[in-house]
Amino acid sequence: MMCDLARLCSVREFAQSFKAKKLPLHILVCNAAVCTQPWRLTEDGLESTFQICHLGHFLLVQCLQDVLRRSAPARVVVVSSESHRFTDLLDSCGKVDLALLSPPKKEYWSMLAYNRAKLCNILFSNELHRRLSPHGVTSNAVHPGNMIYTSIHRSWWLMTVLFMMARPFTKSMQQGAATTVYCAVAPELEGLGGMYFNNCFRCMPSAQAQDQTCAASLWELSERLVAEGSVGVQAL
Ligand SMILES: NC(=O)c1ccc[n+]([C@@H]2O[C@H](COP(=O)([O-])OP(=O)(O)OC[C@H]3O[C@@H](n4cnc5c(N)ncnc54)[C@H](OP(=O)(O)O)[C@@H]3O)[C@@H](O)[C@H]2O)c1
Repeated sequence: MMCDLARLCSVREFAQSFKAKKLPLHILVCNAAVCTQPWRLTEDGLESTFQICHLGHFLLVQCLQDVLRRSAPARVVVVSSESHRFTDLLDSCGKVDLALLSPPKKEYWSMLAYNRAKLCNILFSNELHRRLSPHGVTSNAVHPGNMIYTSIHRSWWLMTVLFMMARPFTKSMQQGAATTVYCAVAPELEGLGGMYFNNCFRCMPSAQAQDQTCAASLWELSERLVAEGSVGVQAL
């Protein structure tokens, strides 16, 4: 089933088609991402790395929330990265700043956009857990490993060279998938969430990733951005 996270209407169509199948949903892994993409605005008016890595998943989970709740116990796993530590999302007043998340072309740096989206992943997972765990739906965020040779490097040749050089020393794809699979199925994690895992162990994310106010603020901003009829960054 086709789902383009860069298009909010595609995410809604996907969720509708999934619901039409009347299947339960016990495990939802939010894994998709792009990295080192050139600046591009989506048709929804947002910077594409932010929309693909965070907002598309946010809308997907919103649309499938009722199915997850009916399927409880259910788990969401959000694939983040250790690179979330190298950035922040707050403006000088301490509020989540859309201009940082979805910057104009002249302020765009692709690695920074990726790091910010990965910080969003942890904040989203934590807030999702806070809201849905009373209904039997838990959420955890994970770091799969460093520089695993997947397709993530494909949009920049320099990244491809670096990933190729690092390949003998980094995790295989199977090893990289292990923490995600662990969070999705481990019996000892039943009913537990709001945590961040690396190498199948719980670890502490950055201070900002643990900030509940920041998580709630990102949630509210994301709700406004996916509201039907919103024209994204230009409107806010
Ligand atoms: N590789 C690493 O070293 C590493 C390190 C830390 C974190 N991570 C995280 O691990 C996760 C998986 O990444 P990966 O390394 O396996 O990269 P990958 O091989 O490039 O996989 C990314 C996936 O995202 C999908 N995707 C991209 N744009 C999309 C869109 N608009 N709509 C729907 N799906 C889209 C891709 O689908 P298509 O192939 O069809 O485009 C692909 O299946 C990501 O969240 C990444 O941030 C990876």
